[in-house]
Amino acid sequence: MLLFIVHKKLIIASIILSNLVFSQSLPKKSEFDISWSNPSKYPDHILLNYSDDPASTISVTWRTSREITTGFGEIAEAKADPKFVNKATRTIATTSNLKYNNIVHHYNSSRRKSFHNVNHNYHSITFKDLKPNTVYAYRVGDGQHWSEWIQFTTAHRTNEPFSFVYVGDAQNYIYDLWSRLIRESYKKAPQASFIIHAGDLVDDGHNEEEWHEWFAAGGWIHRSLPSLAVPGNHEYRPLYQKDIAPRKKSLSIQWNHQFTLPNNGLSDLQETHYFLDYQGVRFIALNSNEKVNEQTEWLETVLKNNPHKWTVVFLHHPIYSASTRRDNPEPRNLWKPLFDQYGVDLVLQGHDHSYARGAASLYEENLLTGTNIKDATGTVYVVSVSGPKQYDAKPNWDQYDARRDKSGENKQLFQVISIDGNILSYKSYTAIGDLFDSFDLIKNDNGINSLTNY
Ligand SMILES: [Fe+2]
Repeated sequence: MLLFIVHKKLIIASIILSNLVFSQSLPKKSEFDISWSNPSKYPDHILLNYSDDPASTISVTWRTSREITTGFGEIAEAKADPKFVNKATRTIATTSNLKYNNIVHHYNSSRRKSFHNVNHNYHSITFKDLKPNTVYAYRVGDGQHWSEWIQFTTAHRTNEPFSFVYVGDAQNYIYDLWSRLIRESYKKAPQASFIIHAGDLVDDGHNEEEWHEWFAAGGWIHRSLPSLAVPGNHEYRPLYQKDIAPRKKSLSIQWNHQFTLPNNGLSDLQETHYFLDYQGVRFIALNSNEKVNEQTEWLETVLKNNPHKWTVVFLHHPIYSASTRRDNPEPRNLWKPLFDQYGVDLVLQGHDHSYARGAASLYEENLLTGTNIKDATGTVYVVSVSGPKQYDAKPNWDQYDARRDKSGENKQLFQVISIDGNILSYKSYTAIGDLFDSFDLIKNDNGINSLTNY
């Protein structure tokens, strides 16, 4: 028992120390008046999401002050001739009020607790019956105060080649230093179809000011490229002062208002775990914070009934941790056997504030007859971080039944992943656009992958 207490104290001390080292390594972050993040009658926090078939639907969410009680979206096929806007059709939004008083913010930039009120309106629309592989333009507003016309392209109905961006935790200094990372990712992959955010998008999930930093940092990228996001532990925080001592955590109050994600998971975990099929790839989002056990049966059903060649999973807490003093046995014990059994190709994760990439051991009994085990690889696991908060990388993965091929620390990173028929190409870039890591997965006719070019 004494050993346990000493061990626990050591862990707490090391976390405090690592945070201290981090906070000492950068100057104090920007200060904002509360008025900086307040909404107005003009639409802001405009966010594009997929919530259904990406070839025929698109979802958009935005924020206004509470005086705006009705929202509209207009959409048309975009043409070079700007008069295309005359052909736009109008849809009325679902409007919801986000109202909370005396929310506790754990620490402001002076590391003091503060209490805030939120009373804003959010508006959400899913545009339907769109044509595949078509450039559309949309705008949102109340009929008087509008956004700009924003262009996006619907997915192909067939399995055409495509790419997407994946980022780990943004979380800290979001406006100051995450902005350059997400903008560099757009410069590197302007043709990307969407962006995966693997949790901890902000530090205090209930903090409107931090979400405003996230929207200001991403700018029009967030309203032009759909986001697929899962919550991290920082999107589950105590909401009120009374919740701190009993460690009662609740999902970011903004999450369901500002994201419109697929609702095909468990009913009490709406928009925090789901699947989406995009041009021959099944993307599965898992919520590694809540009801991990309860999601397992759902996960198996989604994997078992997957008609697609490729499967990509994303979640916040890594199956194989990248950083020292970190481990997540529950999702590893429950979900990794299913990843093995159903041949998940790639697992994208965050949380550890360093980089690691490797592959799980592949057992012969999981292989189809006739495959040469020497050339086959198991599920590839990646942990990455996009924000400036950095931790030390683990020396190796010897404690796991996996092989680590690459690690890194003290680097803000983004990834561009492309899928073209039987080839998945992965590239990890630093915040200044240098190539940091890469590999290809080649899938054979039996569905077995070979890892090459790494
Ligand atoms: Fe985290």
